[in-house]
Amino acid sequence: MKDNKFLFSASTCAFQIEGARNLGGRTDSIWDEFTKRNFTIPPVGVAKREINSIEVAADFYHKYKTDVRIMKKLGLNAFVYNMDWTRIFPWDSTTINPEGIKFYIDLFEQLTNAGIKPIPILYHWDTPMWAQLQGGFENRDIVEWFRTYAKTCFKYLGKYTDTWFVNDENSTFTQSAYLSDYLPPARNDKTAFVKALHNLNLTAAVAKEEFELAKVAQYLNKDAILGIDHDWNPAIDYEGDQNSVAVKQYNEWWMKLFLDPNLKGQYPQCFYDYIAEHKIKFEIPVQDLEYLKKHKLDFIGWNYYRPIYVSKNEHQDNKQKFIAPPSESHLKELTFVYPKDCDYTKWNWLIDESRLVSGAIELSQRYGKDIPIMIIENGMGDFDDKSQSMIKDYDRIDYLKRHIREVLKAREFVNMIGYSLWTYCDIYSPSGGYRKDYGLVSVNFNSPLRTRKPKLSYVWYQNVIKNEGKELEFDKKYLENEYQKILDEWDIFYQ
Ligand code: BG6
Repeated sequence: MKDNKFLFSASTCAFQIEGARNLGGRTDSIWDEFTKRNFTIPPVGVAKREINSIEVAADFYHKYKTDVRIMKKLGLNAFVYNMDWTRIFPWDSTTINPEGIKFYIDLFEQLTNAGIKPIPILYHWDTPMWAQLQGGFENRDIVEWFRTYAKTCFKYLGKYTDTWFVNDENSTFTQSAYLSDYLPPARNDKTAFVKALHNLNLTAAVAKEEFELAKVAQYLNKDAILGIDHDWNPAIDYEGDQNSVAVKQYNEWWMKLFLDPNLKGQYPQCFYDYIAEHKIKFEIPVQDLEYLKKHKLDFIGWNYYRPIYVSKNEHQDNKQKFIAPPSESHLKELTFVYPKDCDYTKWNWLIDESRLVSGAIELSQRYGKDIPIMIIENGMGDFDDKSQSMIKDYDRIDYLKRHIREVLKAREFVNMIGYSLWTYCDIYSPSGGYRKDYGLVSVNFNSPLRTRKPKLSYVWYQNVIKNEGKELEFDKKYLENEYQKILDEWDIFYQ
């Protein structure tokens, strides 16, 4: 990466906004299958899981030109987009869908022309069904299937950007989709988990090998970087001992297990212990470790939503102190607790920005003093009141303000290259469906046109970007006046 300007960005993800699931040659992925099979709609206004159709979602597939106009007006420096493997390879591992790749070329072209740097993430939990039917990430062949996909993206999209990621949140994906049945492919099987995690790590290494070859072929700039995007929630010891066994165990697993393979070319001891303890028939070949070491990734994307309280005690008799029952982890002496005297979102996600600076320092201490770190997801899911002409999401502004302040502080200690909030517009959320609003831009999911409208947080972030984060506090009256001006000129080109 040549340019070292700090990036103010926004992120989102294909299966959560794109729609057009069976258009442009696309076939089903595991998310299509999962959402069709598990349809669940709780009563309106209830903060529960909604599993709904992603057939149209925010219709980004048809509305991306409008969205790029909205992003340009917002002033975004970059746009992080979790791409869709199935759109580019809908039929098998080798046949490129010309319409699929063209969609991304057009999107990247529009972004570039608007002065917005595209930052692609190649994989976000959304395996093509043709691959899943052959075992998906449990089948070692996926590594070569992924190689072709990565190579294709670098070849056709390499000229638009020098900042890339391979995988999003291996931790959430493998634990919720392979160790439990919360996310697709809902395997709930320890052996499947071990295999899937190892193969995911290998997909990153083959992508890195192809990335370097794409530089030689001049598809990519020689300074381009390829990273891993990880959702580590820093642990806070409930008993106040930050050196506790609980914190150490937590970090061994939640930080090192998901970052070490692609950043250091090794697995922490806890992975070998886990395999032995559960008598899993799987050995990590020495050649794989050598391969991981040879093709390490360049930087870290960090998804920071919240820290997590851990305790060595089970607290089953202490329930009145918590907002939710303590949950045991699969590690010994490690329970997750949710203390009452903290701030939470309506979805009971802890709001606490205090571990952002120390967490960033911990990451750089482990993975290299100068390793670039970029916040790739940070945002607040809420029920926004959309009944008035102005959507005054002050709680979201407050959440973002508190976190951006810490991100900018972290720049004094680590090589923090940018901040990307979650998310540009309202999306389909894995835990809240269409009821959990995240966007700076509201999407009317009841309208066939999926009309867009800015929220107050859009105006706030626009001002933050304009002054490069030097000012985060704005007078309410000023913001609302600016908001009104924007709403007045929000014509059909923006809707
Ligand atoms: C991240 C995922 O873990 O969390 C996103 O990468 C997701 O896909 C985000 O939307 C927020 O989670 P949720 O379930 O509230 O949408």
